[in-house]
Amino acid sequence: MAKGFYISKALGILVILLGVAAIATIIALSVVYAQEKNKNAAVDPTSPATTLTTTITAATTLDQSKPWNRYRLPTTLLPDSYKVTLRPYLTPNENGLYIFKGTSIVRFICKDPTDVIIIHSKKLNYTTTQGHMVALRGVGAFSVPNIDRTELVEPTEYLVVHLKGLLEAGRMYEMESKFQGELADDLAGFYRSEYMEGNVKKVLATTQMQSADARKSFPCFDEPAMKATFNITLIYPKELTALSNMPPKGPSVPLAEDPNWKVTEFQTTPVMSTYLLAYIVSEFTSVETRAPNDVQIRIWARPNATAQNHGIYALNVTGPILNFFANHFDTPYPLPKSARGHPTNSLDSPDQIALPDFNAGAMENWGLVTYRENSLLFDPQASSSSNKERVVTVIAHELAHQWFGNLVTLAWWNDLWLNEGFASYVEYLGADHAEPTWNLKDLMVPNDLYRVMAVDALASSHPLTTPAEEVNTPAQISEMFDSISYSKGASVIRMLSEFLTEDLFRKGLASYLHAFAYQNTTYLDLWEHLQMAVNNQSTIKLPGTVRDIMDRWTLQMGFPVITVDTKTGSISQKHFLLDPESTVTRPSAFNYLWIVPISSIRSGYPQNHYWLQGNAASNPALP
Ligand SMILES: *[C@@H]1O[C@H](CO)[C@@H](O)[C@H](O)[C@H]1NC(C)=O
Ligand SMILES: *[C@@H]1O[C@H](CO)[C@@H](O)[C@H](O)[C@H]1NC(C)=O
Ligand SMILES: *[C@@H]1O[C@H](CO)[C@@H](O)[C@H](O)[C@H]1NC(C)=O
Ligand SMILES: *[C@@H]1O[C@H](CO)[C@@H](O)[C@H](O)[C@H]1NC(C)=O
Ligand SMILES: *[C@@H]1O[C@H](CO)[C@@H](O)[C@H](O)[C@H]1NC(C)=O
Ligand SMILES: *[C@@H]1O[C@H](CO)[C@@H](O)[C@H](O)[C@H]1NC(C)=O
Ligand SMILES: [Zn+2]
Repeated sequence: MAKGFYISKALGILVILLGVAAIATIIALSVVYAQEKNKNAAVDPTSPATTLTTTITAATTLDQSKPWNRYRLPTTLLPDSYKVTLRPYLTPNENGLYIFKGTSIVRFICKDPTDVIIIHSKKLNYTTTQGHMVALRGVGAFSVPNIDRTELVEPTEYLVVHLKGLLEAGRMYEMESKFQGELADDLAGFYRSEYMEGNVKKVLATTQMQSADARKSFPCFDEPAMKATFNITLIYPKELTALSNMPPKGPSVPLAEDPNWKVTEFQTTPVMSTYLLAYIVSEFTSVETRAPNDVQIRIWARPNATAQNHGIYALNVTGPILNFFANHFDTPYPLPKSARGHPTNSLDSPDQIALPDFNAGAMENWGLVTYRENSLLFDPQASSSSNKERVVTVIAHELAHQWFGNLVTLAWWNDLWLNEGFASYVEYLGADHAEPTWNLKDLMVPNDLYRVMAVDALASSHPLTTPAEEVNTPAQISEMFDSISYSKGASVIRMLSEFLTEDLFRKGLASYLHAFAYQNTTYLDLWEHLQMAVNNQSTIKLPGTVRDIMDRWTLQMGFPVITVDTKTGSISQKHFLLDPESTVTRPSAFNYLWIVPISSIRSGYPQNHYWLQGNAASNPALP
């Protein structure tokens, strides 16, 4: 925001100007210090190619002419709304198994006539009525085809309902089911987490749906573009507390048939993706505060951690970060939350909760963000300043997703890099706002840029973008969560924001968020809105469209090393490879040449800006 901001850092990517020798040292160093960020279950970024081939082989053994053998849902049916009731049992049953029971109604609209309902379902056992796992009815007065048979297709994780006739386009249907699943300690879907308090083992039930585990909790159209509204109800032991994406509709009531249990019905969510659902039953307690603008913020943790004030730092920084993003995105926090005892709409911040047993670093569930304890709690007695830095940046990352990712969602997992790269960039801006004296923005260079250069300088790296058709199975989806998506994504978005100027970038970003709220997008939609912002003004001139420039950075892997001949002043670029002998087999439509914004700095002189295109000496094009 400060003037000169984009100028001084226009060249994150171009520290390369330091020359080949320096680069090699930096990369060697960052390899030594490379330490996975753990922001999400990041996989080894060098492994994708191998795993990809194996999973594809497995998939091709299925008869692909049957739609239930394909990993992507058909578009014949689109969900509209769900009503889901879940009852987790926090003590094992007679077989020693922890389970949850559930009922679900899903209402969907038929887009194209079909005689089969295909919906995701994983490791759920259904109660059959009249020999079928589901019951079907029409919404309105019309007759509905009878069910022929229902089956579970395990490889593709579907519940398939074969009908004796056709569902009709334009009509709405409701499908009801009753099921039971294991509340396993597997950190996926609706799962159980255990921790010790003193000598007592405590059990809680929580969720991690991203990427493809909402289907392990109830039958659902489990793809991010298949947004719908959700009415969640939880039935749980009366001494515990239940949380979900939305505030409760009212106070909990005792369960009619067993007063040791109580029932909480949550308000209907806005239209949202399944991977952002969350529900938690625990004995956790919270610290809460009211920000000056009456926003209520709550940090949940183990009662002991709360009692020892470990949530206070998170509480202190959440308000400033939320305000920063609401302003940065020109959009208020999009979900209502209301605390007990407060009028609805007085709390416009997500609940944040620290879980003792959590796979990713944190998860941006809409309205109920989950964290590993070390990413949310801060113990002034025992934690280090780097713990504090981690807390403030992870909070900023997850809160940024409440808009970018949750309100506007990438249609499919192949574009994950934009969601994660964006959040990994703006986390520094949000955290910097909360801790303005820490120079947090500078840390992006060692933490993301240099670190990912080490990976991206290998001939086995891969481009940021992956065609949607190449990402189908849950295994292929998890492979998207690598350091290329997070850190290279963040680095190219930072470069983009700096050559556009942050002000122009924000205009395009706000326009994108306004245009696609509650909908889904691809990365090209963001480029288009940034282009509109560029076209709206005449100060910033680019050597091509936003897309022309960015395609070079997103469609081909790697990055250039820039060589400046200080005698002649000529500048050239070459694909940088850590091992110059390695062979690049992956073709590139741009022949591994980039459109590169360059600034030259000489003390006592104004900065000069150039665009390097191909290897031609370029004309100064920036103001
Ligand atoms: C969820 O609740 C809303 C608001 O009461 C209602 O309009 C919607 O029909 C419900 N959805 C289902 C599937 O019952
Ligand atoms: C589901 O059914 C299978 C096969 O009968 C059984 O092994 C499993 O324990 C059941 N799961 C639950 C949660 O009931
Ligand atoms: C948690 O608090 C209780 C009661 O204050 C205490 O008895 C127990 O030892 C504490 N547990 C831990 C792990 O600190
Ligand atoms: C939280 O903010 C209060 C009030 O500004 C301050 O006294 C306290 O030290 C802060 N706590 C932490 C852990 O930052
Ligand atoms: C995805 O978003 C687009 C807008 O980009 C919208 O037209 C479309 O209906 C959405 N798709 C679904 C399945 O909701
Ligand atoms: C472009 O300018 C128009 C008119 O001032 C404005 O409504 C629109 O939001 C701007 N679009 C972007 C992307 O800046
Ligand atoms: Zn993220």
